[in-house]
Amino acid sequence: MTDDFLPYGKQTITQADLDAVARALQQPLLTTGPLVGEFETAFASRVGAGEAVACSNGTAALHLAAMALGLGPDDVVLAPTQSFMASANGPHYTGAKIVFMDCDPDTGLVTRETFLAALERAGGKASAAVIVHLNGEMADMAAIAAEAQPRGIRLIEDACHAIGTRFAHDGAMADVGSCKYSDMACFSLHPVKTITMGEGGVVTTNDAALASDMRIKRSHGISREPSGFVNKDMAFDSDGSVNPWYHEMQAPGFNYRATDFSCALGLSQLGQLDHFIERRKALKARYDQLLAGFHPSIAVVPTAQDCDPCRHLYPVLIDFALIGKSRATVMAELHALGIGTQVHYIPVHLQPYYRELDPELDLPGAVRYYERALSLPLYPLMQDSDADRVVDALRKVLG
Ligand SMILES: Cc1ncc(COP(=O)(O)O)c(C=O)c1O
Repeated sequence: MTDDFLPYGKQTITQADLDAVARALQQPLLTTGPLVGEFETAFASRVGAGEAVACSNGTAALHLAAMALGLGPDDVVLAPTQSFMASANGPHYTGAKIVFMDCDPDTGLVTRETFLAALERAGGKASAAVIVHLNGEMADMAAIAAEAQPRGIRLIEDACHAIGTRFAHDGAMADVGSCKYSDMACFSLHPVKTITMGEGGVVTTNDAALASDMRIKRSHGISREPSGFVNKDMAFDSDGSVNPWYHEMQAPGFNYRATDFSCALGLSQLGQLDHFIERRKALKARYDQLLAGFHPSIAVVPTAQDCDPCRHLYPVLIDFALIGKSRATVMAELHALGIGTQVHYIPVHLQPYYRELDPELDLPGAVRYYERALSLPLYPLMQDSDADRVVDALRKVLG
């Protein structure tokens, strides 16, 4: 790959990030230290949530959220098929049955209608639903919550693409992660995402009990809260004081902790989020402008009214039959011109594991979206002129 190759996504690591991580590595505690709480407080405050729980990755965040809702083998969870497979796997790890929701073929987003259609397939009953803000565009949470809440269906937002995305709420703008319509929102801080911890995840919520449960479950199920101890004779000394070594596991948990040095990176990246958002918005605007009326076989993904997105991805939807080239050929030709692309996503219900569970399931919206989707390069280190280069290359390849 040449120096000027543009991958579809890439992290931005600054000197401030390097210094923050180096400082963290010199502290006495590399994990379960003070930087975890500092990062959580800063993250919650940034998105306007009561609590943020840091963990090892976005998939762990989704699993923790599902466990906090008490989901298990008796539950049905509605999950988006047009997403990364973790949107379904996170709740499925609890043993819950997954019923997939289709999407709008032009946005890839779950809608009120696809939510209701999945609910009907589930026999009218579901305990929870995972709603993904694909690409950083927002699903219509108000409409979905209006259907979910009266039926007692708990909502988890898969916000892994959507830090920095804002939406109109009660006459003001709110951030994705503020959980205005959901119980919890899950974020990934994988390197291609808008901010990174290397590997990392966060769950935000306004429910302190859910946050407390997730903090216990992310660390083996271990509780150190004396008021909840069950084995009182082991927990307390004869004078009533807590034995200093004592801890209790009342339900199994996992090792889903984030390290202090990854939280140091997360904190430092959070401090640069405004700049990252600004660059992503500028590049999206540039692509939107260059691609308007560009080619009859290409559509861009529209933004919902009342949403101010920070895009994680910039997919175009290409009618490959119309241009007479396969997607693999287009990708190879773009690659030869120094442009990396990727496909987000193969519908999860078509993955062999889930296919076997429901071989006949037909979700045409997701298939239609998938057949056309191609993500173009988008990351803050790109210049506007790089977006121009991408579109020039597309022009050459599409003819
Ligand atoms: C929509 C979505 N959900 C969940 C995840 C899982 O995040 P992680 O890779 O941090 O486990 C990702 C990451 O790729 C994602 O894109």
